[in-house]
Amino acid sequence: MLPSAKSFEGKPVPQVTFKTRSDDQWQDVSTDDVFKGRTVVVFSLPGAFTPTCSNAHLPRYNELSATFKANGVDQIVCLAVNDAFVMNQWKLEQQVQDITLLPDGNGEFTAGMGMLVDKSNIGFGKRSWRYSMLVRNGVIEKMFIEPASTGDPLEVSDADTMLKYINPQAVVPEAVVIFAKPGCPHCARAKAQLEARGYRYDEISLGQGITSSTLRAVSGSGTWPQVFIGGRRIGGADELEAYLGTRKAA
Ligand code: BEZ
Repeated sequence: MLPSAKSFEGKPVPQVTFKTRSDDQWQDVSTDDVFKGRTVVVFSLPGAFTPTCSNAHLPRYNELSATFKANGVDQIVCLAVNDAFVMNQWKLEQQVQDITLLPDGNGEFTAGMGMLVDKSNIGFGKRSWRYSMLVRNGVIEKMFIEPASTGDPLEVSDADTMLKYINPQAVVPEAVVIFAKPGCPHCARAKAQLEARGYRYDEISLGQGITSSTLRAVSGSGTWPQVFIGGRRIGGADELEAYLGTRKAA
């Protein structure tokens, strides 16, 4: 049975050495290297490249990494009982920028946290239970441990729950996507407007399966660009200008 979060809060994180790889060299990283004198958010999960970890858990921390930093977090750490090669490859695949992926290949940190679970029924051996924690100067302030169940829940260790704990008033940036066409001046204008207002955006470009029909199917318009913010269609560069004119910078 998993211990309760309360049994860890107020305690120091386990002292271990993480065997990482950087520039094709082994590099030892100690617990103190990660936690000493810093405010660190850790989220730990059953395995790199597994569906929930790749499609939900890690991506949302990645999306909110700048927001965590703006709210006093020095570092976000993703931990799994996997080796350094696997963690590095997963980081590349996930296009992670500001999260440290720490390999706990021997499970020593995870065991020290009481979070090592047996997943040999699916050929995984010993892995980490899913949890998150806020660690200040090496001491655990808050833990969110997923409820014990036979599945693999992601209910409380998610990025939004942790951010809300750190600052209930934290402003979560809206997701922005722009459908754009290479060489289109209105698309360039819309992107410049977003950048000037501090919006991060994903760009979907004409080509590689994206056609004017895609644009029309999604937006109801065949005119480039089309901008969407927070699930709402804004429209082209002129509509974006009008919309941003009424908003505070992101
Ligand atoms: C998942 O993240 O979806 C997952 C994790 C461990 C085992 C199987 C699936």
